[in-house]
Amino acid sequence: MSNALKEYLSFCQNRIERALEERLPSELLLPQKLHSAMRYSVLDGGKRMRPMLTYCTGKALGIAPEVLDGPASAVELIHVYSLIHDDLPAMDDDDLRRGKATSHVAFDEATAILAGDALQALAFEILAHDPSITATAEGRLKMIIALAKASGSQGMVGGQAIDLQSVGTKLNLPELENMHIHKTGALIRASVNMATLAKADIDAEKALKLDHYAKCIGLSFQVKDDILDEESDTATLGKTQGKDKDNDKPTYPALLGLNGAKQKAQELHEKALDSLSIFGSEADLLRDLSLYIIQRTH
Ligand code: IPE
Ligand code: IPE
Ligand code: MG
Ligand code: MG
Ligand code: MG
Repeated sequence: MSNALKEYLSFCQNRIERALEERLPSELLLPQKLHSAMRYSVLDGGKRMRPMLTYCTGKALGIAPEVLDGPASAVELIHVYSLIHDDLPAMDDDDLRRGKATSHVAFDEATAILAGDALQALAFEILAHDPSITATAEGRLKMIIALAKASGSQGMVGGQAIDLQSVGTKLNLPELENMHIHKTGALIRASVNMATLAKADIDAEKALKLDHYAKCIGLSFQVKDDILDEESDTATLGKTQGKDKDNDKPTYPALLGLNGAKQKAQELHEKALDSLSIFGSEADLLRDLSLYIIQRTH
């Protein structure tokens, strides 16, 4: 990872931790168990790649991080909700996440379902009225629509449905790509678009190029996730290695082999860089981030 990226990542991780902490209900508030579960899964964990993308896109467009805390929190909350539900016995049935027990193991299944539900609602509440957001009412509305579409049946939830109904079957490459674009790509794309929508006078060409960049890295992110599931280890990942094979999931390495999957990730990274060609050094962090996504170890 470049030094510039390392520094900015650490800045963003601290920033989003504070932003989330301020926006989550206290665990002293009733119902305490639910609020504890929400805070347990959201705080102090994860790479925070989606908020990082929102802030780095902001940097490429000259938007201050202060006005992106709300949208960055919203995408991370949707992401964490998706992880809590993804880990449930009815879905991937995982007991380790971000290096600790999954929500349904640490609490119970009903609480985990409800914590996910409440995090989703909180994300939209933040977009609708967080005081740190300076976008116009129309800008806010566009953010709400973008995040709703990315989260719902034609976005992440739709991708998860395809994932579950594909267990044990053999998808072809376009089908696998379609699944990944939805279950992971949609929210990553929304993370970038949260920043473009925060700028009222955004240049249409720039917005389009950033969206294309986001599509490429959204897919490369899940390709790499599949690769890591196969070749990393549980301690490094903070989640159980080898679960995709155990659950007979269709993945990129399963279809293309490890080398084929790595080549696919590299191609997507190059396409992501091409999409940024109209930007100067203000988009260097986005370039570094795309490389990090395919080179990361967890
Ligand atoms: C894991 O996402 C689930 C996918 C969508 C691939 P991350 O790898 O971003 O998980 P955290 O947030 O760092 O824990
Ligand atoms: C999850 O994909 C995508 C989500 C929407 C959560 P995975 O099932 O591969 O994610 P991990 O590997 O459990 O983090
Ligand atoms: Mg899954
Ligand atoms: Mg999973
Ligand atoms: Mg995975």
